[in-house]
Amino acid sequence: MTFSRRTLLGAAAAGSVAVGLPGEASAASSRLFRESLDYALGKLRQVAPNVTSFPEETKFEKWIYVNSGGWVGGFWPGMHWLAFLDSGDEQFKKWAVESALRLSPRRTDTSIHDLGFLFYPSWVTAYRLTGDVSWRDGAVQAASSLIQRYNDKGRFIRAWGALGTPNNAGRAIMDTMMNLDLLTFASEQTGDSRFLDVAVSHALTTRAKFIRPDGSTPHVFDFNPDTGEDIGPNTNQGYSPTSCWSRGQAWGIYGFTTMYRRTRRREFLDAARKLADFALDALTPDHIPVWDYRSPLAPNDVKDSSAGAIMACGLIDLSRASGRASYYVAALRILDALCRTCLTTRSERHEAILARGTRNRRIEVGIEVSLPYGDYYLMEALLRVLKPRELGRAIGL
Ligand code: GLY
Repeated sequence: MTFSRRTLLGAAAAGSVAVGLPGEASAASSRLFRESLDYALGKLRQVAPNVTSFPEETKFEKWIYVNSGGWVGGFWPGMHWLAFLDSGDEQFKKWAVESALRLSPRRTDTSIHDLGFLFYPSWVTAYRLTGDVSWRDGAVQAASSLIQRYNDKGRFIRAWGALGTPNNAGRAIMDTMMNLDLLTFASEQTGDSRFLDVAVSHALTTRAKFIRPDGSTPHVFDFNPDTGEDIGPNTNQGYSPTSCWSRGQAWGIYGFTTMYRRTRRREFLDAARKLADFALDALTPDHIPVWDYRSPLAPNDVKDSSAGAIMACGLIDLSRASGRASYYVAALRILDALCRTCLTTRSERHEAILARGTRNRRIEVGIEVSLPYGDYYLMEALLRVLKPRELGRAIGL
C-alpha cells in the first residue's frame, strides 16, 4: 500500500512534523530519528557489558533487575536483536543470544499469560534473524504453555494466577492482545490451527467486552471462571474500572492491528481504529500520553512515554493496514516528541534510553522512570520508520 505525496502532506499540514512518504520522514525528522537510534545503540554498548539479568525499571537512573525475567525478560534480548539488525555488529548478536538463552526455563511456565512478551522479541526474532530452529522450537513450546491458560467457557486467556487455583481465575486483561502473535507464529510454523483458534477467540472476546462505544477501554474484564458469564470491567494498572489506562490502550492498538494483519478479519481492523481514534483524540499538544486518559488530573497528570512508543509502533502498522496516512503522521509526531522530550541524552550516568515511563501509577510503583519496554518499542518504532523492510524480516511484518 502506498500513499500519494499529496494525501500525506495534506494529513500532515495541521501538525508541526513535516513528513514525506512512509519510509521517508522529512530530512529533519529522519536526522533526529537516526541520531536517536544511534544514541540507543551507544547506550546499549555502554551498559550491556555489566548486565547479567533482566532490567525491570530504573531507580535513580540505574537499572534494577528481575532475575527470572518477570514479564519483561524478552525486551533486553529484543533490544540487542534490533541493534544487531541496524548495525550488523556481532557483539549485539552475542549479547542477544546470551540474554535470550537465560529465558529458557520460562518456556514451560504456565503460571502467567506473558509468554508472547517474553518469547516474541527474543526467541521468535532470533529464529527469524538466524534461522536456527532451536529458537523456533522453544517459541512453539512457549505457545503450547500459553494456550493452557485458555478458558473455553468465557473464551479468553486467563491473565494471572497459577492454573488450578482460584486466584484471578476469571480475569482477562488488555495486555494479552500482545501475546497472541506468539500463537499465530506457532500455528504458522507447526500447521496446528489450535494456536490460531485460541488467538482469534481471545481477540474476539476482547473486542466484544472491552471496547466502549467511544473507543476507550478498561484494563481488565472479569468473568465467572466456571460459567464464563460476564462480571464486568475492572482495573489493575488504570485509575478505575471506568478509566482508560494509556498503555493498555496502546497494547490494544498494536495487538488488534497485528491480529488483522495475520487473519484479515475486518472486525480487528475496526477495533484497532476505534482504539487509535480515541487515544489520538486524548493526546495533548506535547504528544506524550498521560498515564491514564481519564485519571482525575488528566491531561495534567504524570506521563507514560512507553505508551507513546507502543502506540507509535501500532499506528505505523495501522496506517499500512487501513491505508490511512493520518495514522502514520500521528505516529511520526509521537516519535518526534519522544525523541525531543523523553530521551536520557543529558544524563551521562543514565543506563536507559527513554525516560518518563510510568509502570504502575495506581499503586505508586515506578512513576516517570525508564522501562525496558519503553526502550524496546522506541527502537522498534524508529526502525519501522528508518528501516521498515529489515524490521519486517525480524518481527514478521
Ligand atoms: N503488561 C504489563 C504492563 O504493561 O505493565
